[in-house]
Amino acid sequence: MGEALGGLKRTMMCGELREEHVSKKVTLMGWVQRNRKLGGLDFIDLRDRTGIMQVVLGEEINAEAFEKAKSVRPEYCIAVTGEVVMRQSPNENMPTGMVELKCEALKVLSESETPPIYIKEDLDAAENIRLKYRYLDLRRPDMQKIFITRSKTTKAIRDYLENNGFLDIETPMLTKSTPEGARDYLVPSRNYPGMFYALPQSPQLFKQLLMVSGFDKYYQIVKCFRDEDLRANRQPEFTQVDMELSFVEQEDIMAVNEGLISHVFKEVAGVDVKLPIKRMTFKDAMEKYGSDKPDVRFGMEITNITEDVRDLDFVVFKSAIENGGSVRALCLKGGADMGRKPLDKLGEFIKTYKAKGLAWIQLKEGGVKSSIAKFLTDDVTNAIVKTMNAEAGDAVLIVADKDSVVFQSLGALRLELAKQFELVKDKNEFNFTWVTEFPLFEYSEEEERYMACHHPFTAPMDEDLDFIESNPGIVRSKAYDLVLNGEELGGGSIRIHDTDLQERMLKALGFTQEDAWAKFGFLLQALKFGPPPHGGLAFGLDRMIMFLAGTDNIKDVIAFPKNQNAYCYLSEAPNIADEKQLTELGIAILPKEDKKDEE
Ligand code: AMO
Ligand code: AMP
Repeated sequence: MGEALGGLKRTMMCGELREEHVSKKVTLMGWVQRNRKLGGLDFIDLRDRTGIMQVVLGEEINAEAFEKAKSVRPEYCIAVTGEVVMRQSPNENMPTGMVELKCEALKVLSESETPPIYIKEDLDAAENIRLKYRYLDLRRPDMQKIFITRSKTTKAIRDYLENNGFLDIETPMLTKSTPEGARDYLVPSRNYPGMFYALPQSPQLFKQLLMVSGFDKYYQIVKCFRDEDLRANRQPEFTQVDMELSFVEQEDIMAVNEGLISHVFKEVAGVDVKLPIKRMTFKDAMEKYGSDKPDVRFGMEITNITEDVRDLDFVVFKSAIENGGSVRALCLKGGADMGRKPLDKLGEFIKTYKAKGLAWIQLKEGGVKSSIAKFLTDDVTNAIVKTMNAEAGDAVLIVADKDSVVFQSLGALRLELAKQFELVKDKNEFNFTWVTEFPLFEYSEEEERYMACHHPFTAPMDEDLDFIESNPGIVRSKAYDLVLNGEELGGGSIRIHDTDLQERMLKALGFTQEDAWAKFGFLLQALKFGPPPHGGLAFGLDRMIMFLAGTDNIKDVIAFPKNQNAYCYLSEAPNIADEKQLTELGIAILPKEDKKDEE
């Protein structure tokens, strides 16, 4: 037995003690939550990751321990030994509240300075302080619960996949750029000055190579790195549950993953996921919800009213329609009572999504009120009301523009209204949807060329093969996303395993033969050696944990996360490198001003 523990051995965890343990002698080790004096006795609340146990000390119980307890302060790490007894005044709110420990020996294992944050649930401390002292933040019971959930989740995932014939195989972290569409994190090479490794945005290329190798079913719980703008559900390094399968079609991959999701959600959260998970095409998702990750926990779908307003003498609608756009609307139940100010606010809100304005029609008891009253006719109003299925008391909210703007702005407005009017009734609902038939390409106005929607190895749908060259915009792909409550939980696709098709695809994306080979020649080469038909999917593990742990901040589910600017308050990374390191790497740092000019 080591000196550090003073010959003591922990026999139980704080949170485990119940009435059945009364008269048992136990040794606990943990942190002092608080201590207080009451009628000649000292009480210590002792905490470990399982919970809190009350420890009572007294002159009569053990004078030496009682004396030692006087020096003990919050967050001291201590060991106590004693008998479990019934509490005089039970605390119904604590799982261990029926019993307490009569302390016969106490050892201070280490002292603590006054911690800069309170170790308690629902802490309301500044984020930078919490992140700087993350190890203390992680002592808090609600944080510990999250990481216990995270560990249970990865175990459930591994259990399921291993039982279904998947092999866990690691892929490199120091590698070449993966085409997932974000910026790479680069690592300079000492052996090859001026050259860089890229940290993987995903194991995409390597998992395809593993299929060529014949591993058949691969999975990995793996870190991925993407230098992108961070949001509430994005971190620069995050974890994927990544998988790839050979000799499968889209249906097989969806089926395996429905099994996985239902197993994990049942094991970890006791939730029964309704199978099969419902499906929606990308086109429907955009038209009805204005998003490729539709939140279908509430209705209020987007409705096309172009035909109803086609003949209206209102230049905004007319020009949108003439330019190939459309006029679409949402029907907000109870919206007739909204005042001018909140309506104007909604108008401002949608402008951040490039809409030029929001027209509205309120169906009040006394008659119709509208921002476009001077253009509306009774016939058109009636037609809109009919198409929208609107009733007295509702408001119809209208945007006219090109389709992409209409979808994006009404999609965002729909979510904003759901927040304002609390349209999601059951906060505990887990509503899954597969979104399928994604476009293969999307046109980038910025780059003035077609880009891969998913990545360049995604297979087109067989029906659309002929249009790759002639009309890339209409080609659909064998790609699918799993959406949960309006968030993208995961996505994948069937891959191209045919070199000719792969080359057509790369050509359509504007790659020259040389470019393509320079970038992912190793995959193109491998596809020449009898690749099996294959496909796969990756889930964002952190996002999955966010749902299972009930938090909407991705930082809560990562032990040592970065802040919104990819900075680590704890380790203070990124940091400057010293001259010697830079020289070895053949790197010179530009002065700050020069760097700015380049951006
Ligand atoms: P994709 O790029 O869709 O697919 O990523 C898969 C899932 O990873 C999660 N995710 C993130 N989570 C946190 N922070 C981020 N910055 C972040 N970026 C992505 C999302 C997403 O659904 N190789 C393909 C998968 C495949 O085709 O098999 C891929 O990486 O939940
Ligand atoms: P105006 O004639 O400029 O006063 O506009 C009348 C109404 O049309 C206002 O409520 C505007 O917000 C709205 N509006 C302007 N542009 C659009 C648009 N692209 N789609 C829908 N409504 C719009």
